[in-house]
Amino acid sequence: MKKVLITGANGQLGLELVEVFEAEWEVIATDTHNLDITNREQIEKVFANTKPDLIIHCAAWTDVEGCAENPEKAMFINGEGTKNLAQASKEIGAKLLYISTNEVFDGKKNTAYEETDKPNPINPYAVSKLAGEKFVQEVLEKDGVVVRTSWVYGPKGKSNFPLKIITAADKSGELKVVADEIATPTYAPDLAKAIFDLVRKNPSGIYHLANEGFCSRFEWAIEILKNSGRKNVKVTSIKLKDYVRQSVPPPRSILVNKRARKLGVGLRSWKEALKEHLNT
Ligand SMILES: NC(=O)c1ccc[n+]([C@@H]2O[C@H](COP(=O)([O-])OP(=O)(O)OC[C@H]3O[C@@H](n4cnc5c(N)ncnc54)[C@H](OP(=O)(O)O)[C@@H]3O)[C@@H](O)[C@H]2O)c1
Repeated sequence: MKKVLITGANGQLGLELVEVFEAEWEVIATDTHNLDITNREQIEKVFANTKPDLIIHCAAWTDVEGCAENPEKAMFINGEGTKNLAQASKEIGAKLLYISTNEVFDGKKNTAYEETDKPNPINPYAVSKLAGEKFVQEVLEKDGVVVRTSWVYGPKGKSNFPLKIITAADKSGELKVVADEIATPTYAPDLAKAIFDLVRKNPSGIYHLANEGFCSRFEWAIEILKNSGRKNVKVTSIKLKDYVRQSVPPPRSILVNKRARKLGVGLRSWKEALKEHLNT
């Protein structure tokens, strides 16, 4: 049986990946407590003991606001941490699949971003994630895989957008949500399954995997409320510029899946996935 080592395996995507891969792979689930990606020595020890064939690298400092306040820490974890893993993977001849983000783009394009479009990050989280992408590609070349995704949520998440909307709606009965930030909500179980399918195709290079379609945060919130029996909650649309945050998101960062589709790997529509999430 082949072995996959998953970093960030206690996160919302990592937990789904562990479940999906366990069907066919021996899974080594790691997280901060047993494999801190900023600790090169520990990585080498764990890799030598477990000898994985594939690393799926989900671990990241995902607090975008925290990253904006402390860009050095963001680079240390998301950039340098990824470099540590890439180098250690190369030493043992393993492949590495790195999870990246739609935020590597500046959000100024009117149509969806393809895998070949040039990134131009506009916030420190995205700068650190793009640095991770570059390390994976430079160090591992054809053995490095980058999967970009967007707006991830799922049943195992502790603070994703649907949870925040439902909590805020139940608390105040009224919401203000940004209408000019556009991307695609991606259901973590669908993404995990697509990554599993992609791995079977011996991938190399950059892939975009997100549910199909796109929406604004405002439209997403409406859909969440409608499908969770909260139709009567009042939602007002606001502008990105009126929602003051440390981290500036790209306004329109829709990912189109071109490369994985050619291999027969894709995800269903975001609305269908959201319905399943809220009904189960
Ligand atoms: N969430 C999104 O909307 C989104 C969108 C696009 C791309 N992504 C990418 O998708 C991946 C998974 O995201 P997610 O939503 O599942 O995030 P998550 O729930 O925050 O999981 C991230 C995991 O990484 C771990 N981690 C943090 N620092 C670490 C370190 N130094 N060493 C080892 N593990 C560390 C965290 O552990 P602790 O809890 O112990 O810190 C956590 O379990 C990330 O690479 C993220 O950048 C996410």
